[in-house]
Amino acid sequence: MRVSEASAPGKVILFGEHAVVYGQPAIAAPVTQVRAWARVRDGDQAGVYISAPDLEEEYWLHESQEDDALAAAARLVQQAAGLAMLPPLHIRVQSDIPIASGLGSGAATAAALIRALAQHLGRPDLARDERVADLTYEVEKIHHGTPSGIDNTVVALEQPVYFVRREPQNLIEPFSVVRPLTLLVADTGVRSSTRDVVGDVRRRRQEAPSHFERLFAACGRIARDAHRALQAGEVADVGRLMNENQALLQAMTVSSPALERLVNAAVAAGALGAKLSGAGRGGNMIALVDGSCETAVRRALEQAGATRVLVTTLGLRS
Ligand code: MEV
Repeated sequence: MRVSEASAPGKVILFGEHAVVYGQPAIAAPVTQVRAWARVRDGDQAGVYISAPDLEEEYWLHESQEDDALAAAARLVQQAAGLAMLPPLHIRVQSDIPIASGLGSGAATAAALIRALAQHLGRPDLARDERVADLTYEVEKIHHGTPSGIDNTVVALEQPVYFVRREPQNLIEPFSVVRPLTLLVADTGVRSSTRDVVGDVRRRRQEAPSHFERLFAACGRIARDAHRALQAGEVADVGRLMNENQALLQAMTVSSPALERLVNAAVAAGALGAKLSGAGRGGNMIALVDGSCETAVRRALEQAGATRVLVTTLGLRS
């Protein structure tokens, strides 16, 4: 029996969340310690069966809801492959990326499914990073409304990326981090819907356009400076810019008491910088550490209520 498998990592936004939706640059990086996997095998009866035990979902594709993300991913590959019907298949998706926590679980699950299915259908062209990113973007739109495109890009490319949303084509610059950086990724344990938070920022921006434009522009400047600092190995500057970005995210109202507790605890314990990551109002925060403070910062995050702390290193291929 033929089996095709693919996976995609989680992600963090290092700089520029929210502002990126409005055309400012942002930087994201993969978190390879957590992943989504998809396994596609030939089915033994007509139809496509999808199972996602982590989401407690099992169904036939033809019986699925229009807005089901995994079903949409399968249909998009079918369309892109120009097939009137998919052959009998069994698709299984698994993930250890916590959902609704800013780590890109939806994008990673869709990307893994799209790549595995494209391979299984004998369409390596559709399994290329750029095509996977584009098809994943279409899935993201279903649940998210107006995604910037950064999440699907970073999980498909699996590299740090400098990203600007723009027409007719986004600017996507994968780049190398000169000096490896260690990040602690700490979960508040509070689930948060990206769609709701992005929608709320949109409403607030409509009420106070010039205030939000100033905040977004300042985030853009920080992302540009951070891009340079990351490529020059200026670790202290990266940390300082993270703190500045956090202050702007607070002003946008997307931080929260639980996020503030973790950010303050990390900085007090010696982190070089700390900020929320992703949509905010819950989910994860990131703290930049070095060998001298990593243990103290981890302990401080746990004492401040983090439900899980991951360590990830940027700049080293894992
Ligand atoms: C979510 O990971 C990042 C946001 O900027 C939304 C987006 O870019 O689509 C909040």
